[in-house]
Amino acid sequence: MTLINGQARSGLWSKTNETAVLTERIMPKPIKVGVVGCGYWGPNLIRNFRALPDCSLKMMCDLSQDRLKHLRNLYPEVKGETDFNHMINGAGLDAVVIATAVKLHYPMAKAALLAGKHTFIEKPMASSSEQCAELIEIAEKKGLTLMIGHTFLYSPAVKKIKEIVRNGDIGDIRYISARRLNLGLFQKDINVTWDLAPHDLSIILDVMGEAPLSVNCRGSAHVTPGVEDVTSMCLTFRNDRSALVQSSWLDPRKVREMTIVGSKRMIVYDDVEPLEKIRIFDARVERPPHYDTFAEFHYAYHYGDVYVPYIKQEEPLRSECQHFLDCIREGKTPNTNGRQGMELVKILEAASLSLTERGSPVRLAHGSAWHVQRPEGIERVKPIVPANGNGHVNGNGHSRRNGGARKGNGLAG
Ligand SMILES: NC(=O)c1ccc[n+]([C@@H]2O[C@H](COP(=O)([O-])OP(=O)(O)OC[C@H]3O[C@@H](n4cnc5c(N)ncnc54)[C@H](O)[C@@H]3O)[C@@H](O)[C@H]2O)c1
Repeated sequence: MTLINGQARSGLWSKTNETAVLTERIMPKPIKVGVVGCGYWGPNLIRNFRALPDCSLKMMCDLSQDRLKHLRNLYPEVKGETDFNHMINGAGLDAVVIATAVKLHYPMAKAALLAGKHTFIEKPMASSSEQCAELIEIAEKKGLTLMIGHTFLYSPAVKKIKEIVRNGDIGDIRYISARRLNLGLFQKDINVTWDLAPHDLSIILDVMGEAPLSVNCRGSAHVTPGVEDVTSMCLTFRNDRSALVQSSWLDPRKVREMTIVGSKRMIVYDDVEPLEKIRIFDARVERPPHYDTFAEFHYAYHYGDVYVPYIKQEEPLRSECQHFLDCIREGKTPNTNGRQGMELVKILEAASLSLTERGSPVRLAHGSAWHVQRPEGIERVKPIVPANGNGHVNGNGHSRRNGGARKGNGLAG
């Protein structure tokens, strides 16, 4: 005899019933998903959604028969479709995932939301902030989940960086610089800022915990006239903080690097590194609290250990896809939601405007979807020592105060 909801049940009937209740609890009904866009990125989403246990990938949609044929060879149980309208209206889907060119994000997402589907849109959310606002409004009115593919925010390395920053381990952020460079993939409808910078911007906004005050951007179009393939963007934040984002499709090396400079320590994040993606440098420069003559003025350079924290190996895209399903099931707002998508698009719009004005700064309106409370004790600096055998310290750390200090103008010799 078993107790279910406080009532005793016995016999064959109740056993079957009990199994059904337990099955529903342990294995909720799979969410039926369709993916549109089976080009470069869509297949990664298809692979991940298909592998998740609480998802039933029902359909893959692309205009190209060749792409569908290729994917149906890999996943014969998933239907192929060339007509997006058939997919959203005739396949009985719960959710639609959009991985097409940016200009199609808005019309496709609007149609999917109006058809009552939870919607996931790849980055950047849409071609304008006005379009983003409309999509947010429709999703809110219809009570549907709207999530944006800011994939890096689901990466264990970025989560670790955020944790380190939030704990106050690097002190106050002074600036962040990011470089995302490689040869290609050239796009024709968007410039390199709209293509590559969303990754860096999403990380920067998340780490800074707020939206920037202004943006300026310079760049040039070397290959496709009118489509910048090399850009350099500068964002300014409150309290004299800033971020630099360099994006290029015209570089011989693949570079995915970010440096976060804090008042106490500095983090270097290299996403190309397979294992040691983050290094924390116990390095800083301090000014003397007071001095009477210029001769007494010394900067204090501190060179400490370099610490490589342990980072779990986990595919960010899998966590991202799972998060979309969890949000649908639990009615939660996604961590990377429409408002954040719109905030990022506003920065891209400002960058485009600045590009046309040869890099002059464009101010952004206040009010940020990214704003987060600073936790108490942010000033506290914890000693960075490996908590377990997973992390390790590199190098012979030492501090050079005054004795090793360089004089005068602070230039490093
Ligand atoms: N999150 C990430 O890390 C990441 C990485 C790369 C790309 N992306 C994003 O993914 C999206 C797709 O990029 P991509 O490089 O895969 O583009 P892509 O051009 O390689 O693929 C787009 C696909 O959409 C198909 N398509 C076009 N119009 C269609 C229509 N009306 N109906 C059905 N299919 C249609 C095309 O045939 C093509 O196969 C972009 O928004 C891009 O920014 C995200």
